[in-house]
Amino acid sequence: MLVGKKHFRTIWRDKDRPVLHIIDQRHLPHNFVIEELHSVADVATAIKDMHVRGAGVIGVTAAYGMYLAALALPEKDMDDDLFSAADLLKATRPTAVNLAWAVDRQLEALRKGKSREKKIEIALQTAEEIINEDLDCCRKIGSHGMAIIDEISRKKNGAPVNILTHCNAGWLGFADYGTATAPIYLAAENGAALHVWVDETRPRNQGASLTAWELGEQGISHTVIPDNTGGHLMQHGMVDMVIVGTDRTTRRGDVANKIGTYLKALAARDNNIPFYVALPSSSIDWNIGDGVGEIPIEERDAREVRYIIGLDESDQKVKEVLITPKDSKAANYGFDVTPARLVTGLITERGICEASEEGIFSLFPEKHDQK
Ligand code: MRU
Repeated sequence: MLVGKKHFRTIWRDKDRPVLHIIDQRHLPHNFVIEELHSVADVATAIKDMHVRGAGVIGVTAAYGMYLAALALPEKDMDDDLFSAADLLKATRPTAVNLAWAVDRQLEALRKGKSREKKIEIALQTAEEIINEDLDCCRKIGSHGMAIIDEISRKKNGAPVNILTHCNAGWLGFADYGTATAPIYLAAENGAALHVWVDETRPRNQGASLTAWELGEQGISHTVIPDNTGGHLMQHGMVDMVIVGTDRTTRRGDVANKIGTYLKALAARDNNIPFYVALPSSSIDWNIGDGVGEIPIEERDAREVRYIIGLDESDQKVKEVLITPKDSKAANYGFDVTPARLVTGLITERGICEASEEGIFSLFPEKHDQK
């Protein structure tokens, strides 16, 4: 998507050197910083410390991480090194299933390469397949989701459609376009009037710092709101629909997304407001059914809750300040699970379905065997 007037993706490979470039998202919205990753260890750090974050792009970055690992392989005992690289990457973040999915796909493909050269070639080809699929899925999610926005717009006789979103399932969370944002970008491009309520998304503020930034760069009307505002807006008819992303969806349609999503879904249900989840099928964990019981929820450093990062306008420096009493403990659960019963529909690359086993398998019948 656009940054200034230039098109960027969140990650790209250097044309001349064995290096990846990523947008280091820790610096947004105040600074636009591009970082170089040279090794699988760099990739693991970038994912763990959230230089890149969001289910799609961490999968893509991990896939390219396996390519960097292949480039560094010795001539002998290559498999040991590949397994260690895979373990290193998979240990970085537990909730988004795209990460393990991308790494396992690389391992499976790499089994076919018998020489170092062949493994490098396979790893690159697989990483490129994964990024291209991510782009393709997001574009398709955009066009399926746009139909929902258009329908609401028609019912409102063209008055702005108010969409609430939580966290960042925007282009920064994928290679490009995003999932929750793709329908928004496409509908806006096709002339629909719309406005986005952006939950700030404590503690890391992905909404306030990332979603607001990317919507602003694309010229989409938006308003940042404290996380607890959504229910009030819904009670007063100020939200027409909710669209969020997901880090892992079970085959029964339970959805893990950024902490706080569940409360939005409850408020939406209480106010009869459609609550959609947009996702590529790479975010579906076909092996599990019960989201609350089975999805591992990442717990991050309490420091992210106790301190807040922002721009000090007096000297234009980004600073971190303590917002709790010095000795207070804090808990930092990264995600929660929204049960399928609260989800109006899943917007996937193959269309929109009910959040249920029947709904999901009607779009992905070939996955039936993996139950
Ligand atoms: O912790 P993050 O920023 O990696 O969390 C991921 C998210 O941004 C979301 O939960 C998102 O809504 C779905 S994945 C793009």
